[in-house]
Amino acid sequence: MCGIVGYIGTQKASPILINGLIRLEYRGYDSAGISTIEKYGISIMKDKGRVKNLYNINGIEQLEGNIGIAHTRWATHGKPSKENSHPHMDNSKTFSVVHNGIIENYNELKKFLSDNGYHFYSQTDTEIIPNLVHYYYSKDNNNDDLKFLRAFKNACNKLIGSFAIEIICKDYPNNMLVVRKDSPLVIGKGENENYISSDIPAILSFTRNFYLLNDFEFVLLSRTDAKFYDKNLEPINKNTQTIEWNTASAEKEGFEDYMLKEIFEQPNAIRETIGAKFNENSKCEFDELNFSKDFLSDFNKIFIIGCGTAMHAGLAGKNAIEKLCKINTEVDIASEFRYRAPLVNEHTLCIFISQSGETADTIAALKLCKEKGAKTIAISNVIGSSITREADYSIYTHAGPEIAVASTKAYTSQVVLLVILAIYFAEILEINTNELSLLKKEILKLPKKIEDTLDLSSRIRDFSKTVYQEKDIFFLGRGIDETVAKEGSLKLKEISYIHSESYAAGELKHGPIALIENGVTVVGIMTDPKLVEKTISNLQEVITRGAKTFVITNQQVDNSMFDFIVYIPETSPFISPILSIIPLQLFSYYISKEKGLDVDKPRNLAKSVTVE
Ligand code: F6R
Repeated sequence: MCGIVGYIGTQKASPILINGLIRLEYRGYDSAGISTIEKYGISIMKDKGRVKNLYNINGIEQLEGNIGIAHTRWATHGKPSKENSHPHMDNSKTFSVVHNGIIENYNELKKFLSDNGYHFYSQTDTEIIPNLVHYYYSKDNNNDDLKFLRAFKNACNKLIGSFAIEIICKDYPNNMLVVRKDSPLVIGKGENENYISSDIPAILSFTRNFYLLNDFEFVLLSRTDAKFYDKNLEPINKNTQTIEWNTASAEKEGFEDYMLKEIFEQPNAIRETIGAKFNENSKCEFDELNFSKDFLSDFNKIFIIGCGTAMHAGLAGKNAIEKLCKINTEVDIASEFRYRAPLVNEHTLCIFISQSGETADTIAALKLCKEKGAKTIAISNVIGSSITREADYSIYTHAGPEIAVASTKAYTSQVVLLVILAIYFAEILEINTNELSLLKKEILKLPKKIEDTLDLSSRIRDFSKTVYQEKDIFFLGRGIDETVAKEGSLKLKEISYIHSESYAAGELKHGPIALIENGVTVVGIMTDPKLVEKTISNLQEVITRGAKTFVITNQQVDNSMFDFIVYIPETSPFISPILSIIPLQLFSYYISKEKGLDVDKPRNLAKSVTVE
């Protein structure tokens, strides 16, 4: 959702900026633009539509400046149009700004500026920022090196909402300023150059050394330096962190799409996420946690909170924590949780899951739990992401960068990490110890079993070709399989635009079965031996009403009644979602391809949902 790129160095900025925007395309956007400091002043080139349209703008090839800011916009205030695209300038054309996030008090600030003679040419909240900076700049008679920074700080201190902002000024042709609050932004340090981006992968090919910013830290960038200040402009010391992801991990590496590549990366993502947390004979350890029995025994309730796929992973976490640790665990959608006055106190442990670590609702829910005195753990795939800086404790999936909008390897990595966390808790609490060692053995076998499951790819592709024109597809399961039905259905609707619903198979008779008619496709997931027969009965009910069935199972079942069945390797029900989701990821992928859709960048969706 909106992307920011910036460059300050010795090379021509425009190709670097456009290249960076292309790498951020996966975040979702509807317009793009760049702004550079040229000999004659500030240049802005922007338009609605794809980043590559920028190449059609007259004069873009002639830009020489080696300082610039760039943006992909995902419309919130005002429709997608050239006028509403970023960058935006102030009336005097002294400043140029790109902004991610939402300025909640922009109406009030717009009125203030209008009363002071400023005019606005777009419908965006962003346009108030360069004008507000100009307001403070014009009032400051001290023409020293920090005048630009002071004006920017004064303006930002008036903003309410979330923002990541880059700004350049024609009077300071060797500087750029940035700040963030509740919206991602990182600075990559190069040799005599600095890169700015909302996401690490966009600039990973230039540097592995990053400064991670906290809220309201202002950065004064020059070609050779990055100076950090707090909201009162007191200097702060900051060191770079080295990011281990390699450049290739953010490339397609011969795959047709990122999504397919990421589906096939799952054996490794799981292997890396298990890491050295345990082996067959050792107890689980998390370097980042070091919890004691007393500490864990103090919690009478656990909440697991996330959005979309991350929330679905949380359902597998609840299953493991409740069964292995006997602690009452609730899963909630962050956007609901934060507004429903949840019963959280100092005896509650709250676990927040977010691949990006930047999801606005999840961060807000986390802040709420902290205010209420709960202890918080963040699970993220991105080191230093906002959620990990807010939480009391952070643990990481090691899935590598996930570029496709539809989450695949992050989901399976989240599930395995949650199950390992549940084992860790249970070992500390000394519960279920026999069951735990068997489960650990099964977890260690997962990478190989995922590889075997991926071998089903071509059969699933062939089946997908027979159903890609369907209007509705239903997903059924019981117990842990119902959580996978939810995730399978979400994946399908996201990238194939086929209407899809998931149901607990036992709920069918209570209403949804009215939707089943001749030819409708129903997907059944059956991996829990205790529940298989029950789900088969539910599938029989839909078959009787003319449904076409696709079954995913690891049990020996009579396959003659189903239209298509895939057998996945047997494993513990705690971790079965990691295997049973794979045929469904492939199913969605191949349907989307068959329909000729953009698998990696589905319509209306953004990879990182940084506004609520
Ligand atoms: C679905 C998907 C989304 C995300 C959700 C949360 O494929 O990707 O549902 O899971 O937007 O994102 P994170 O995990 O970054 O908080």
